[in-house]
Amino acid sequence: MTIVYLNGQFLPENQAYISVLDRGFIFGDGVYEVIPVYGGRLFRINEHIDRLDNSLNAIRLTNPLTRQEWSNVLKTLVEKNGIGDDLAIYLQITRGVAKRNHALPEKPQHTVFAMANPLATTNKPELLSGIAAITHDDYRWKNCHIKSISLLPNILLRQQAIDTGAMETILIRDGEATEGAASNLFIVDNDTIITPPKGPFLLPGITRDLVLELARKNGLAHQETAITETVLQQAQEIWLTSSMKEIMPVTRLNGVPVSKGVAGPVWSTIFDLFQCFKQQLRAQSL
Ligand code: PDD
Repeated sequence: MTIVYLNGQFLPENQAYISVLDRGFIFGDGVYEVIPVYGGRLFRINEHIDRLDNSLNAIRLTNPLTRQEWSNVLKTLVEKNGIGDDLAIYLQITRGVAKRNHALPEKPQHTVFAMANPLATTNKPELLSGIAAITHDDYRWKNCHIKSISLLPNILLRQQAIDTGAMETILIRDGEATEGAASNLFIVDNDTIITPPKGPFLLPGITRDLVLELARKNGLAHQETAITETVLQQAQEIWLTSSMKEIMPVTRLNGVPVSKGVAGPVWSTIFDLFQCFKQQLRAQSL
């Protein structure tokens, strides 16, 4: 039985309940994080908590737990759900229970929830064929840097891809590609790794930052610059990054093969560097 964390308690999942008046349920009023765990070690925990703090500040909610308390909660959650395994922790904080009113409650009673699920990563040979993606107008709001639990636009945009037999939707705003419905976007153009700069139109991905860091440390040409739709369509390589997908090559865009229609050489290099980083994390003491 999966053990979850809810408001200070560790409980079997089927015994964890929240009120129907929770503002997360009523308004989608809350923020979340997804944190990978490799061999029991939390991946970039400080960066995830920093982003959580930024999301909370942006929605005018305080963080109910200190960094140390978060670390203790998440480590205990890992211990209770399979210490040696690869897991994906999902945590969310909502503005809690209040009489339904759009105005913010004066003293919010946060709801704090976290769960850990198995993280299935795909091995390199299986990834070589890549995934198909489509493009679609980015009709989300102008605060995409907030990791909000209100994900209806992202859900509907992702489903557009699934409906056409693809796996992810790359979003286009004012002629520029921003990110995927649940992932960040990278391309290789002129042998340079390119990703759009951070800002209100995309989530500052933790995987994205690590990819840039690995490129920098290993002398791979890289740039944070806008990607027009035309440049995207002509890219040598396209990748999507996220905590769940790691670095996923896109080999078909809108039904057209990307270069030769298989994962490219720059992806292969960065994928290996990423796996190496994970191995080093696994080797750290618990
Ligand atoms: N989503 N952009 C969006 C819109 C996302 O939802 C995500 C991740 C990312 C990648 O961020 P990171 O590398 O920190 O996972 C970018 C998570 C995994 C989710 O919603 O399940």
